[in-house]
Amino acid sequence: MKILVTGGCGYIGSHTCVELLDANYEIVVIDNFSNSKPDVIDKIKQITGKDFTFYEGDVQDKELLNKIFKENKIDAAIHFAGFKAVGESVAKPLMYYRNNLDTTLSLLEVMNDHNCKKIVFSSSATVYGKPDTLPIKETAPLSTTNPYGTTKLMIEDILRDVYKSDNTWSIAILRYFNPIGAHKSGLIGENPNGIPNNLMPYIVKVATHELDHLNVFGNDYNTKDGTGVRDYIHVVDLAKGHISAINYVLNHTGCDTYNLGTGHGYSVLDLVNTFKEVNHVEVAYQITDRRPGDIDACYADPSKAKEILNWEANLEIEEMCKDAYNFVQKDNN
Ligand code: NAD
Ligand code: UFG
Repeated sequence: MKILVTGGCGYIGSHTCVELLDANYEIVVIDNFSNSKPDVIDKIKQITGKDFTFYEGDVQDKELLNKIFKENKIDAAIHFAGFKAVGESVAKPLMYYRNNLDTTLSLLEVMNDHNCKKIVFSSSATVYGKPDTLPIKETAPLSTTNPYGTTKLMIEDILRDVYKSDNTWSIAILRYFNPIGAHKSGLIGENPNGIPNNLMPYIVKVATHELDHLNVFGNDYNTKDGTGVRDYIHVVDLAKGHISAINYVLNHTGCDTYNLGTGHGYSVLDLVNTFKEVNHVEVAYQITDRRPGDIDACYADPSKAKEILNWEANLEIEEMCKDAYNFVQKDNN
């Protein structure tokens, strides 16, 4: 079976490519390196000992997509390509709507033309807005607070409409909680340029003395220690969720949504303390004001993915912290 992976050089995409190759899928990857580097391709090959086809280009480009589908018999696609920074999406909404929506529309149109109607899409727990009930089930009300989140919700709606119009499609919408960590090899992981927006990359940069201290955004939330609680999931567990989803869409039709999370919530201070303990490093921090838009707590009810996709997360927070630090120590800058 041959799977097209858009955005396959990115953080989650690269880990998913490794799992797909390990599971003996053939893959075709397209990426324009807008948020990744070409050396990831060799690293995926090095980890797996397997080769694959790569196209450099924009997923919005229907001509290129047509060429890819003509040159390869694609059975299904996993669509990661898109922009993902919440703050940037507020500053540059048009850039986010253009890239996230047009990549998806171009891909769906070309897939339809080539009668390839099986797709796994990267959505996000951000579509739950400020959740009323925890843990969050897939049936919870949906709302968004920033353009990035709105693109995810719009794309979910597009996918649901596509299925309604033609029920030969098979669509899995995966709502990721907070992916962190890296592959055990230390060859692939997450290392954003500049000052990171997200907690784990920031902790890592404080531990390596690239940044002076972590700002903990508020300690007056309604949580056990007052700091924000999230469902951190090891990126390798998340990548494996895509293998389960691909196996499922290859064998069923339908359009359904699954939470990919662990079901456990950890606070900012839990993560900081675990990181210090398992890596034997200091992580200086200061409590500062809340970050606008942040919520107290967010964690998944992942039981639907277990029941239907036969997937569940296995790796603990200790492993996530160790692997995140191992990756930056292996000098992947
Ligand atoms: P990433 O930025 O590391 O990976 C995205 C990849 O897509 C990059 O390699 C980038 O170069 C590529 N890309 C972007 N636009 C493209 C285009 N027009 N054409 C070709 N390639 C393009 O992000 P990630 O963390 O791996 O996230 C993957 C997907 O999962 C994204 O859609 C993101 O919104 C979603 N998601 C991520 C998180 C998270 O916390 N990382 C959480 C929920 C959902
Ligand atoms: N935090 C800090 N200091 C920092 C960064 C974060 O205290 O420097 C805190 C936040 O206040 C929050 C927690 O750490 O309580 C996690 O913050 P992240 O920015 O790492 O993650 P979010 O849960 O805010 O958002 C992320 C992605 C979203 C996605 C969401 C759910 O950025 O795009 O996970 O998947 F929608």
